[in-house]
Amino acid sequence: MAGITSLDVTDVNSEATIREAIDCGIDFLDTAYSYGYDGRSDRVIAKALQGRRSKVKIAHKVGQSWNERRERVVDGRPATLLKHAEECLRRLNTDYVDLMYLHSPDPQISLAESASAIQEIVNRGWARYAGVCNVNGPQAIEFMAHCETSAIQIPFNMFQQNALRELLPIVENRNVRLVCYWVYMKGLLAGHFERNHQFSPNDKRLTYDIYRGDAWERAQNLLDVLRAIALAKNCTVSQIVMAWTLLQPQMDVALVGAKTPTQISETAGVMRVELSTEEMARIENGIKANC
Ligand SMILES: NC(=O)c1ccc[n+]([C@@H]2O[C@H](COP(=O)([O-])OP(=O)(O)OC[C@H]3O[C@@H](n4cnc5c(N)ncnc54)[C@H](OP(=O)(O)O)[C@@H]3O)[C@@H](O)[C@H]2O)c1
Repeated sequence: MAGITSLDVTDVNSEATIREAIDCGIDFLDTAYSYGYDGRSDRVIAKALQGRRSKVKIAHKVGQSWNERRERVVDGRPATLLKHAEECLRRLNTDYVDLMYLHSPDPQISLAESASAIQEIVNRGWARYAGVCNVNGPQAIEFMAHCETSAIQIPFNMFQQNALRELLPIVENRNVRLVCYWVYMKGLLAGHFERNHQFSPNDKRLTYDIYRGDAWERAQNLLDVLRAIALAKNCTVSQIVMAWTLLQPQMDVALVGAKTPTQISETAGVMRVELSTEEMARIENGIKANC
């Protein structure tokens, strides 16, 4: 929604996309202090949710921002986290968010201090639950020791499964849910790019290895497997990918970035898609052969 990492994003489309998401039965929005150089994502959400706040859960993140040169700043100092949390409530025009994460550990600050500040945000009633993003196993354990943690947000998709493998044994026996992002690997796994697709040179996706060379060819081999399954089930590749994601252990929420109402309603169609054991096995074989 902030258009920092993606082309052709407009507020008009973003607001319409949020409203369409709610109409499709999606009830979880994910934003952050740093989504937009000046809080654009929060403001778009506030506008789209006028009269609808009670229909959704809002998850927010503090701990990252931008400096005047528009370089990303990681700042996990408690005073900054509290200040930014308070500011985000104003931007969102709400008294509380449902979940507040630490966006990422700050290497300059002890994780215990940042975790205690997130706990303080919950204690003040600004957030209902607490979480952390982008941690490895030992960091997750340290964070949880200082903050009652309900959710850990990680990158996860068919090509990127290491974070899940590392964190699963840690969260399995606790009341901690996993939330994943990059389900579509920035659009590739939505299945609309053919093998010979030419990206605009301004498209930041070209900086990811998977969008180039041999990795792109192997990704397309996997997509051919997914296309065949989607065709037989009369659904879309994006729905197959989302259905597979939601069947992963402990994975309660799968985030997806959508720019238009059409994209989000396509994705939401996953609610009508069930994968059989045989289809899951074909997908797993496709992943093993190509990722
Ligand atoms: N905690 C963190 O550090 C962190 C980091 C990154 C992201 N996140 C969260 O995860 C969310 C999603 O991440 P993301 O947007 O970067 O990646 P993503 O969900 O993997 O990819 C989203 C992109 O896929 C394409 N797309 C989505 N639905 C589609 C559909 N049905 N049909 C065709 N194309 C479709 C769109 O791009 P095109 O139309 O251009 O192809 C869209 O911008 C973010 O909004 C954020 O909330 C969190």
